[in-house]
This record gives sequence, structure tokens and C-alpha cells, in this order.
Amino acid sequence: MKLMVIQGPNLNMLGVREQHIYGPAKLEHIHAQMKEFADQNSAEIEFFQSNLEGEIVDRIQECYGEIDGIIINAAAYTHTSIAIRDAISAVGIPTIEVHISNINRREDFRKENMIAPVCTSSIVGFGPFGYHLAMIGVIRVVSEVQAAQQEQASQQEEA
Ligand code: DQA
Repeated sequence: MKLMVIQGPNLNMLGVREQHIYGPAKLEHIHAQMKEFADQNSAEIEFFQSNLEGEIVDRIQECYGEIDGIIINAAAYTHTSIAIRDAISAVGIPTIEVHISNINRREDFRKENMIAPVCTSSIVGFGPFGYHLAMIGVIRVVSEVQAAQQEQASQQEEA
């Protein structure tokens, strides 16, 4: 199983930016914990962070045919980016959206979410622990998809 973690703008500033909202953990620390959990579950995992919308779109497109599950925190682009939404929809890969803060309890503009309708699930407001929950979720969803594909393949062989 191959997983891709995509982090949007300003998430490279975790540990520095608004610690009262996002906490003290740095992105490298969060990624190290995700890598450990991936290893424990025999999953391959890659990490990508960009402050640029087009680079995020490119990366999602590159997942097509290569990656089984995506975890994305599109950060501020969550609230604006039809391009990222369309890219997620286009590749059709199970995608879990994470937000460190509870975007539903903050400013009104953060309640607008372009990404959620094309994601398998959204995890918000658990702090960095949300990434761990997303790992559990994405591994589960991808395992179910792969099991269904194997079942279908063996049925076709029998027919
Ligand atoms: C965020 C929430 C967004 O509204 C914000 O723009 C971010 C981080 C979060 O993880 O809570 O950059 O995605």
C-alpha cells in the first residue's frame, strides 16, 4: 500500500505559527510519527508540502496509478480551491482531509470547504493527532478497496 501526505500553505510554519491554535509540534515531527505508523502497517508513505496551489494540483495528478490513498491538509486552499477539489475528484483515489484546528468553530470564511465533498472523510479539531486518525482511516479504506478488487478478480478468474 502506497500513501501520499500533502500539506498546503503555511503548514511548513507549524511550531512557529499561532501555537495557541496549531500547537507546538513541527511538521517534521508529525511526519516522523506518521512514517513510524506506516512502517508498523507495512505501508509506504511519501510527504509533500507546498505553498503553491498549482504544485499541489500537480502532485495530486501524479498520484494517479501510483498511490492508493491520500491524506491532505489543503490549509487555506481548502476554502478557495476548486482546482484542488477537481484534482482530487479526477484521480478518484481515497482521500482523507485533515485540519488541525476545528475549522467549523472559527471564522465564517473557514466554514466554506471546497475539498470535503470529494473526500472520503474529514478529520478536524484533534490537533496533530488528527493525522494519526487519518492514517488509521486511510489504511482501513485502502485495505477494503484492495480486498474488494481481489474478490472481483478471483470471481472473474472463476467465470
Ligand atoms: C488548517 C485550517 C485552515 O483554515 C488554515 O488556513 C490553515 C490550517 C488547519 O489545519 O487547521 O492553514 O487547515
